[in-house]
Parts: sequence; structure tokens; C-alpha cells
Amino acid sequence: MQLDDLYRRVIMDHYKNPRNRGTFEKDETVTIDLNNPTCGDKISLQMQVEDDKVKAAKFVGEGCSISMASASMMTDAVKGRSLSEALDMAEKFSALMKGEDVSFDEYEDLDALSGVNKFPARIKCATLAWNALKKGIEHSKEG
Ligand code: FES
Repeated sequence: MQLDDLYRRVIMDHYKNPRNRGTFEKDETVTIDLNNPTCGDKISLQMQVEDDKVKAAKFVGEGCSISMASASMMTDAVKGRSLSEALDMAEKFSALMKGEDVSFDEYEDLDALSGVNKFPARIKCATLAWNALKKGIEHSKEG
């Protein structure tokens, strides 16, 4: 199988079977609502933060396959990590979107989004969830 095909499959799997989709019944520490200004698609991210750690994250939203797959991966990837580790991951993801040669040994599915940087219009799709994460981390630190 070609790498592109493998990556497409990983993205479609997250899109069709999103991890952590939904909302918490209680105990969410922070909720961030963001939209992609270029298309109006939106995401609402909730995180449970305890002792500077992302205990869990969930999302709901409407968007293209790239944005929803990215949200699914992100919420899975940051689970159990400290806020600074989660922020490092967000920075690494930004670097990936800029075309830098990074890979995610800590959550390999994210590598499937590496092709997105060739399509400038899609970068905003892929980064929507990560921008919500960055805001969520900021709010958690303030709170
Ligand atoms: Fe709207 Fe991708 S087209 S988030």
C-alpha cells in the first residue's frame, strides 16, 4: 500500500469513527468554541484538567473530514499528558503544517495529516482543533 493511501485510510477512520466525540456530563474544566472563518465550520472542545494534566478531552462539531479527523486525533493524543506536553504537541503540529519534517512517535496517526501542508486552504481545517486546544490550555492555566 502506498503511504498516501495508508494516510487517507487513517484520516477516514478517524472521520467515520471519531474518538472522544461528545460532551462530558459533568466535571469539564474548560469549554472552547471556535470556528474556521474561511468556511464557518465549528468545533466545541471540552477538557477535564486536573493537576496540570489533561485527564480527558471531548469534542463536538461540524466540519470536513480533515477538521473532524484532526479533532479526533488531537483529543486522543493529549489524553493523560501534562499541559506543557500537550502544548508541545500543538507546537509540533503547527511545525508539521508549515512543512517541517516532524513525526509523531507519541501518536503516529497524526503523521497521516502531514500531506495537508501542501494544500493551504486545508491547513485551517487541520489546525482548528489544535487552536482550540491551545486556548483551552491557556484558560486552564489562568483558572
Ligand atoms: Fe470547513 Fe474544513 S472545510 S473545516
